[in-house]
Parts: sequence; structure tokens; C-alpha cells
Amino acid sequence: MRIGVLTGGGDCPGLNAVIRAVVLGGFVHHGDEFVGVLDGWRGLIENRTVSLEPDQCRSILTKGGTILGSSRTNPFATDDGADRVQATVDALGLDAVVAIGGDDTLGAADRLHQRGLPVVGVPKTIDNDLSGTEVTFGFDTAVQIATEAIDRLQTTAESHHRVIVCEVMGRNVGWIAVHAGIAGGAAEILIPEVPFSLDEVCNRLLQRHGDEQFFSTVVVAEGAHPRDEGSATSSWNSQGLGTADQFGHVRLGGIGDFLAQEIERRTGYESRSAVLGHIQRGGSPTAFDRVLATRFGAAALAAVQDHDFGCMVALRSGAIVRIPLGDAVGNPKQVDPHLYEQVAALYLG
Ligand code: F6P
Repeated sequence: MRIGVLTGGGDCPGLNAVIRAVVLGGFVHHGDEFVGVLDGWRGLIENRTVSLEPDQCRSILTKGGTILGSSRTNPFATDDGADRVQATVDALGLDAVVAIGGDDTLGAADRLHQRGLPVVGVPKTIDNDLSGTEVTFGFDTAVQIATEAIDRLQTTAESHHRVIVCEVMGRNVGWIAVHAGIAGGAAEILIPEVPFSLDEVCNRLLQRHGDEQFFSTVVVAEGAHPRDEGSATSSWNSQGLGTADQFGHVRLGGIGDFLAQEIERRTGYESRSAVLGHIQRGGSPTAFDRVLATRFGAAALAAVQDHDFGCMVALRSGAIVRIPLGDAVGNPKQVDPHLYEQVAALYLG
């Protein structure tokens, strides 16, 4: 078979491990040929591709990012985008496309499949917000990086008797904040799913510090927001920065600085903030993510060989399964309320 491979959306550690598994597996076991589509769906809209040879993929398992490049291009953002994707697939003689991406990339894959594109999806995102799979690769690496950062912030917070707010990624969901916050022993973990009260956060910090303890770390997801602070949000743009991308997302940021300022103003504790940003998305994947990405790649290749198009590979109860793309997209997987209430919001710090 002749198979196109693309990576779309925000990059994440493990993308190259999927590419490697698909290409080497297809070449060694089935004699498949591969075409690398550059920069996600944009590559198929603009017919920008490269041949993808096994030799290019042998040593990319540990490499962060994606050798194919990525973009947030939506084929349905313009009138002729989907037709141009199909025209490129026809011109290249592709029998199948493996699309590796998150909700946006795979949502487009689902719509393109409904128009006849033979596509198989592979779920990726550091945010871990894709429904249908228990976990996406990239998430474990992001949690490791964020946990190490929180550990480091704890020691300097303790030395200087400060509150340090650590802002982590998580546009709609707080999976990274919850896992890294629990692992790092944060005093407060604030997530988009549960709007927080600034008064309550500050009161808990005041109680916690008392006369003896005088430092705290607060972990906040970039999409978290206060529920009771109409006027206070004027110093922080909760609507995001800049113009929206082709999937309607604005760039988030600023909640960490805003929180640190408000905590200092309300409690009198000297406070600082640190924004982890893209540090969480860069670099080599953890062993867990390498294994999961390789398993997803092998399973996607098997689905292509079976002509089982319109599916996404997913992790369920430890096994890799196939589910319809339509069941996976458009419905972000939120943090389990039990995990949040029973563990993350216990204020054990
Ligand atoms: O890929 C998901 C994500 O990392 C979100 O957590 C974050 O809001 C967004 O991407 C940032 O996107 P960009 O790299 O385009 O600024």
C-alpha cells in the first residue's frame, strides 16, 4: 500500500515514535511505501509532501517534536480545503492516510472520512483531553516535566518564605495540573473544570501558613478562572490573547501572574509566578510515552492493513482498541471529579 502520514495540532513528545512504528512496521512486514505530509492538513491542502523512507525513521524514537512538522490548519476553514485534500491524495495515489493529532486534527479526519477519505486516527496531546482513550501519549512526559519544575519551585519558595504559582498548560481541562500538582505536593491545584474562589484560595493559604509554615506552591492550569472576581479580572485577559486559530482557539496565558499578584495583595505573602509553557511540550518522550506511541503506531498500521478506515486507535483497560473517530472527537475528556475532590483538592500541602 501507499500510505500518507501527517501530524497536526500542537506537537508533543512521542509523535516521532508513532511515525517510526508505522513506517518501519509497514516497510518490514508489508512492503508498504510512505509519503510524509508536511505540517498537518496544510500539507495535503497545498500538496507539500516528502517521501518517507525507513532509514529516516530508524533513530527518531527518542526525538521530541515531529520530523514532519505540524500546523493548526483546518481543511474546513476554507470552501475548497477538503476538495484540495482529496485532490492531493488522488494525485499522490495514496491508499490511506494516518493522521496523528488531537481533537481538532481528528475532528477534521472524521469529516474527511465522511467524504470518502481512507483515514485512520492516532490520538496525541499533552493535555490528555481526548475522549475515547484513557490516556494520550505526550501527557506522561508533560507531567514529568511539570512535576520536576514544581519540585524546584518548592525549594526556592521554602527558602524565601514565598508563595509561588506555577502555570501549566491545559486549555479546557486540568489533567496536567492535577497529576503534576498531586505529584509535586502543591498546596492548591486550580483547573478549568472547577472555577475557583480567590477568597477561598487566599483563606486556605492564610490558614495553612499559620505561624509556622511559610511557603506554598499553587499549580494553576492556563484555562482556569475565578468564579467570583468580576472586577479583579480586568488585570488578566480571561478571553485569551491575539486572534483565534482556524479551529477557533485563542492563546491563553496570564492567570499565573494574576493569581500571584492577587495572593500577595490579599494575604501579604510575597508571591511569584512561573509559566512553564512550551517547556512541557518539548524534548524527548518518557519511556511510558515511547511505549504507548509505538503501540498506537503498530495498531494504526494494522487498521490500515485491514482497511478499517474512519477509526481511531485508543487505550482501554490496558489494551489497544479501535473506536469510531466520531466517538472520540468534539467532547473533551474532563478531569475525573472524584480524583479532583478526593485527592487534588484535599489541600494536603
Ligand atoms: O497542544 C495543546 C496545547 O499545548 C495547549 O495546552 C495549549 O493551550 C496550546 O496547545 C498552545 O498552543 P500553541 O503552541 O499554538 O501556542
